[in-house]
Parts: sequence; C-alpha cells; structure tokens
Amino acid sequence: MPTFRAPRGMHDLLPADRAAFARLEAIADDLAARYGYRQIETPMFEQTAVFERGIGEVTDVVEKELYRIVPRGDEGESWALRPEPTAGIVRAYVQHGMQTWPQPVKLTMTGPMFRYDRPQAGRYRQFWQFDVEAIGDPGPAIDAEIVELALRFYTDAGLAPVELHLNSIGDAACRPAYVEELRTFYRRHADRLPPTERDRLERSPLRLLDSKDPTVVALNADAPVITDRLCAACLDHFVGVRAHLDALGIAYRLDPRLVRGLDYYTRTAFEVFPSGATGQQSAIGGGGRYDDLVEALGGRPTPGIGFGIGLDRVLLALEGAGGGTGAAEASPQAVIVGADPGATIERLRIATLLRAEGVPARADLGVRKLGRQLEGAARDRAHFAVIVGDELAAGDVQLRDLQAGTQRAVPLDGLARELKRAASSHRHGPEGRG
Ligand code: HAM
Repeated sequence: MPTFRAPRGMHDLLPADRAAFARLEAIADDLAARYGYRQIETPMFEQTAVFERGIGEVTDVVEKELYRIVPRGDEGESWALRPEPTAGIVRAYVQHGMQTWPQPVKLTMTGPMFRYDRPQAGRYRQFWQFDVEAIGDPGPAIDAEIVELALRFYTDAGLAPVELHLNSIGDAACRPAYVEELRTFYRRHADRLPPTERDRLERSPLRLLDSKDPTVVALNADAPVITDRLCAACLDHFVGVRAHLDALGIAYRLDPRLVRGLDYYTRTAFEVFPSGATGQQSAIGGGGRYDDLVEALGGRPTPGIGFGIGLDRVLLALEGAGGGTGAAEASPQAVIVGADPGATIERLRIATLLRAEGVPARADLGVRKLGRQLEGAARDRAHFAVIVGDELAAGDVQLRDLQAGTQRAVPLDGLARELKRAASSHRHGPEGRG
C-alpha cells in the first residue's frame, strides 16, 4: 500500500490515458473550430455566488457537490471549484461586455470540472468536459445546430451510434404553473418521500423529477409532464427545433421527464447516452437552452444554449465497446546508441543536435552494452538506431533501420536531413515524394 494516493474519486492520467484524452481534445478543438466556436479559458474556481445564482441553490451540484474554498485572511470572498463551465463562461460574457460583440458569441472550453459526488464507475470528483456555448441566439435553428455538433463529436471519436433524448422544459411564462401542479402532486405523496426530497418539494419540486431515490423514481411515472403544459411560444420553439433536427436526419427520443440537474435551463434540454444504455448515470453528454442565465448573472436579458460532453465517460464507453480508445503514443524516431558504454557525451550530443533540427530522438544514457541499448530502442518502437562507434572520428555514424533490418554509414552532418527524409517518406508511403 503506497503512503500517498490521489484524492478519492480523482485519478491520475497515466501516459496512455493522457494520450487518449489528447485525442479527444484534438477532435473537440477541430470540431469547435469548424463550427466557428472560439476557445475561452475561465478560472478553475469562481465566486460561489456565480454557481449559486447560475446553477441554482436547490440543486445537487450546489447543495451537495460544490468544493468550497475556505476564504483566506481578510479577502473574505467565498469561492468554489467549478462544477461545470457554463456559469463561469456566462460570467465572463457579462464581465467583458460580450453583449456588444456580434451575436451569437460562440465559445468553447475543454478542461477539468469538480463535483464532490459519491465516486463510482464513470462518476468522478474531477472529470473532463468538452463544452460549447452559443450566447445571443434565441433559436430554434441554432438549437439543432448545437445538437448536431454534439452528436458529431461522438461520431468523430468512434462512438456511434448514440442515443439522443430530447425535451422542452418551458420557460418563465409556462413553467411556474407546471411546477405548482408538480408540487401538489408530490404533496399528496409527501409521507412516502425521503427527508431531502420532502424538503425540496417545497423549494424546487422540479428536482424531484431528477431524483435517483427509488421511491421517487417510481412515483415519477405518474407525475404530470411539462410537455403537455408548454405555452404557445415554447411549443412553437420546440416544434421549430424538431423540424430542424428532422431536416438534418437526426433521430431522437422524446423524453418528457428529462429535466436536467441544473436550474438554468429553459426550453430545449437534451442528453446523450451510449447506444443501449439507460439511466441518468451513463449520460455521456447533455445540454440545453438557458435564456435567463445571462440576466441572472447581471447581464442584459440574452438567450443562450450549449452542451457539455464528459470525456471520461466517452473513453469508458469506447473501452466498453471494445474498439479501444484509438490513441497512439509517440515513440522516438531515432535512438542514439554506442559501442562504448561510457561514451554518453557523444550520444547526448548527437541526440541534442537531432532534436534541435526537429527530429524526435532519444539518447541511450545508461552505461550498458550495445546489445542492451539496441534492445531498448526496439522496445521504444524506434524506427532507427544511430550507432556511434570509431567511425565518428571520420565524421560518420551507422544508421540502422530497425524495421527493415538494414544498416549503412551516414555522415553526421547529413544525419538530421536523412532522418527527416525517412520520416516523410514513411508518412507518405513508398509512392510519396519524400
Ligand atoms: P451536466 O449534464 O451536468 O451538464 O454534465 C455534462 C456531462 O458531464 C455529463 O453528461 C457527463 O457526461 C459528464 N459528467 C457530469 N458529472 C460527471 C462526473 N461526476 N464524473 C464524470 N463525468 C461527469 C453540464 O455540466 C452543463 N454545463 C452542460 C451545458 C453547457 N449546458 C449548457 N451548456
């Protein structure tokens, strides 16, 4: 048992995991750029009020899962680690006057989020999200564009098909009456509710629809659904979103009980599951519209929509599907070895020269026999071994192609050029111009 371990629910990304993440980040960056989203980076923590007002005080994320930072000295401010990126991005939108930029402002961010949740498979206390936000467009066309972008991520990552669940959860015009109806419904069953849910029933009955408590889950089968109570404007919007999705050929399952775990949503709400999976636990992404959030965080009323994709869960799903994570780790193109075990100066010097020229190279710096050095190069899956021997006095080294099994003398001053030529012809194949 090691003395120290990573915090519970958080994991180290070892090189193979990091490479798998890097591949997903590259896919995310490429997609976001193709759709016109620009990168933003907000701090890992914010004033707690940003999350309380943005996400809502009566949510699991704020009530139970926020990592609060103890205020220091006389600064007295209360901060919390970001449990999700949307509130921080909208805070930045307001703070930097992005309302004056051409709308919508399309932003993307990929990074770690923190929730003090009970750790289990696919549920971590630090996890990564690929997030996309389009602020300043009321939709419905952009809603469909955002959903299509989210789905394309899974396709590009090699995780298709996936299942899209879709709902509209109304707005300030129609939701209050529905919420009241829901409250009345739950009140009738109050004696069966666990204490937390009974408490929430008065403050935010919508949260009960999202509850994982088995009694509440059973009760929810008979609860009134929002979709039957949408006002004309929300219904119109929802019809528009569906028409655009249909036109793009995107299949979805209408899920009138889908409410999402964060309070800022209005109208469009969606979640994505790996094909065949069920239940909240396994959502590999989710998002929706938040037309009141900019105002809640102090800006002018401005609509917005976005999504977050859980990269940890996408990798788990890829592994579960048996296809692997598709990540390749970099190996050096050349390893510098030598007949004289002690001649580490020459080996280091040659590797340094090659790397300065842009060639991925590693010097064997262990004082060990040539045979062992060559075994190490093969284990590294290096393409070439550069063997340093007596010929160095005449300015030459031996270049061994470890894959082809051939070897020849090459002048040191042409070595980098030679290796670059080999690398490009390797990339382009035998027909390439090299
Ligand atoms: P969310 O549904 O809370 O939405 O999280 C988005 C995704 O993050 C989830 O579908 C899941 O894949 C992943 N995720 C959430 N919690 C965990 C966890 N504890 N461990 C591993 N993965 C997790 C949001 O965060 C919204 N900000 C999405 C959004 C953006 N809505 C509008 N714009």
